[in-house]
Amino acid sequence: MINKYIKIEQGTYRNQDMSGRIFPILKDYQRFAGKEGGFVTVDCSELDGFEGLDKARINVPAITDLTITTEGAFQINRDELKKTESATQPKTENNETDEEAIERIAARFSILDEMAEAVSTSKVRAMIVSGPPGIGKSYGVERALEKRSMFDDIANNARKFEVVKGAMSPIGLYKKLYEHSAKGHVVCFDDCDAILYDDLALNLLKAALDTGAKRTLHWNTESRTLMAEGMPNSFEFNGGVVFITNVKFDNVKSKKLQDHLQALQSRCHYLDLTIDSMRDRMLRIRQIVGTGMLEKYAMGRETEAELVQFIFDNKHKLREISLRMVLKIADLWKMAPDRYQHLAEQTCMRQGA
Ligand SMILES: Nc1ncnc2c1ncn2[C@@H]1O[C@H](COP(=O)(O)OP(=O)(O)OP(=O)(O)O)[C@@H](O)[C@H]1O
Ligand SMILES: [Mg+2]
Repeated sequence: MINKYIKIEQGTYRNQDMSGRIFPILKDYQRFAGKEGGFVTVDCSELDGFEGLDKARINVPAITDLTITTEGAFQINRDELKKTESATQPKTENNETDEEAIERIAARFSILDEMAEAVSTSKVRAMIVSGPPGIGKSYGVERALEKRSMFDDIANNARKFEVVKGAMSPIGLYKKLYEHSAKGHVVCFDDCDAILYDDLALNLLKAALDTGAKRTLHWNTESRTLMAEGMPNSFEFNGGVVFITNVKFDNVKSKKLQDHLQALQSRCHYLDLTIDSMRDRMLRIRQIVGTGMLEKYAMGRETEAELVQFIFDNKHKLREISLRMVLKIADLWKMAPDRYQHLAEQTCMRQGA
């Protein structure tokens, strides 16, 4: 049970000022190892602006920047913030109707389609797409690449596009880039974030994404794998690359990684699908359900609307607000149409929320 509330006299969350805010505390102040300051872990599940996360670490200069407070103070702070948030939003956003917001979000995603298409036709060599989970990044890119692959499929040619998902070692990366080094090929690394945290892999990616006329990739160490597979120690990369990630480049904390990511960003097109606010995510759901995402369930428009409303009503309890969550709940509906909400409460919501 949460029974402690803390006021941040001075502190930040991912470079956003948190001074004066009150949170339920989950874990006491901890000092940073080897440097000044520390952090507290707080419960932010009831608050907007934390990318749908349950808990967050608030950085504070010292333990003296925290004061213990009451639940009542927390509630007042939370409600006031809701009020001021809606009052201090920029005018255009404040007056933005749902329809306008849907249009704005749809426009962002149509840029994703357009860019993916441009990579697949070699007009653009590389792009990085980032955004929160389950909103349709992979779907958009895959659809664009699929469309292009149709011609190869019809002609019975080998596909020029490949989507690689998950774990990827540096040598695996080198190999994939080699396989797709010819002009017109595109390799899409989807959720391969490990690449960003490995120096060797990161440097390979940097070289592949570079804007110079010639992009030569080297493998500097002797490698049995290379030799065994008949791959050269270096080659010229003329293909296209799409890199999809949940990592929001502007938000990473490590200075070293920041520098690397900046280098990547400067080399290619970077599309941040910023739909971070709860409202935007809900609207994205409404938009895509509106375009027929749930048609295959044949539940009828009314049930579709009821399902979306259920998500809306429980947006603070659900573990995630995403298209993926919509599909999960639709699956539960298929399983047990009259009990799906109950099942969703058990499987998709934070217990005790
Ligand atoms: N426009 C759409 N129409 C129908 N279904 C969609 C659409 N966009 C996404 N989906 C479905 O929503 C689910 C989540 O989408 P997707 O996998 O593309 O998310 P993502 O942003 O790549 O998430 P992650 O970052 O977790 O990989 C998928 O099952 C996908 O098929
Ligand atoms: Mg994905």
